[in-house]
Amino acid sequence: MGLASLFRRRRSIKTRTDLLNHLIAARGYRRYLEIGVRNPRDNFEYVRAEVKHGVDPAPRRPVKFQMTSDAFFAGLAGAGGSGRYDLAFIDGLHLAEQVERDVVNCLMHLAPEGAIVLHDCNPTSERSQIESYEPGARWNGTVWKAWAKLRATRADLSMSVVDVDEGCGVIRRGLQRVIGLPSLDYAAMSYGLLEARRQEILNLVSVDRFLDSWGAGQPRGGGSLELEAEEPWQRA
Ligand SMILES: C[S@@+](CC[C@H](N)C(=O)[O-])C[C@H]1O[C@@H](n2cnc3c(N)ncnc32)[C@H](O)[C@@H]1O
Repeated sequence: MGLASLFRRRRSIKTRTDLLNHLIAARGYRRYLEIGVRNPRDNFEYVRAEVKHGVDPAPRRPVKFQMTSDAFFAGLAGAGGSGRYDLAFIDGLHLAEQVERDVVNCLMHLAPEGAIVLHDCNPTSERSQIESYEPGARWNGTVWKAWAKLRATRADLSMSVVDVDEGCGVIRRGLQRVIGLPSLDYAAMSYGLLEARRQEILNLVSVDRFLDSWGAGQPRGGGSLELEAEEPWQRA
């Protein structure tokens, strides 16, 4: 690859939409699910997948499934829908318990080689990670706590947060070395814990590192997200 095209691709992921479209192009994903759409003109409409389903109980413009994610997945339960989606974007209710449920439910309906992108994983102030939403304020909620718990309990997943657009966590089936946490109780997870161990908890990677590991435009099967074993805190 020439230098010019290398720079072009390196600069190409600046938003959640860019990341989603990169995954679709790189992995050949076709079927997309978005949990929490709000205004489809902000992201959903720009996602370049063949089949797109949006779920939101109170969208600003029509979505296919106007309901909560819990209701949506309850409806799928009897449908035997394993492998229904290649890519899921979770950006609904930003509370840890709900996010954990959304991830587990998405995994149940995800193709074996599929991926989940979880928005708002990297709050950079204590205020932005509070539980209650204040209109107009930046709100990442407690998404990071659900992420931390999955990093501590799910050795069967591969998880990295790409350092773009509030922190976009990429999850797929794989292998990760689980991290230790003082408690898995969300109430006991303080912002101080995240500040002290942000890199390790999130497995935070730059866009460049993510592209190197996952593969830029490689066909399905290329690239890897198993970055954890190389991280400095795990080499000791
Ligand atoms: C941050 S906005 C989504 C933004 C959109 N994904 C984007 O990228 O522009 C969060 C949305 O989640 C929706 N929401 C709230 N609770 C939900 C739930 N339980 N299930 C699904 N969506 C929910 C809200 O109605 C709101 O529209």
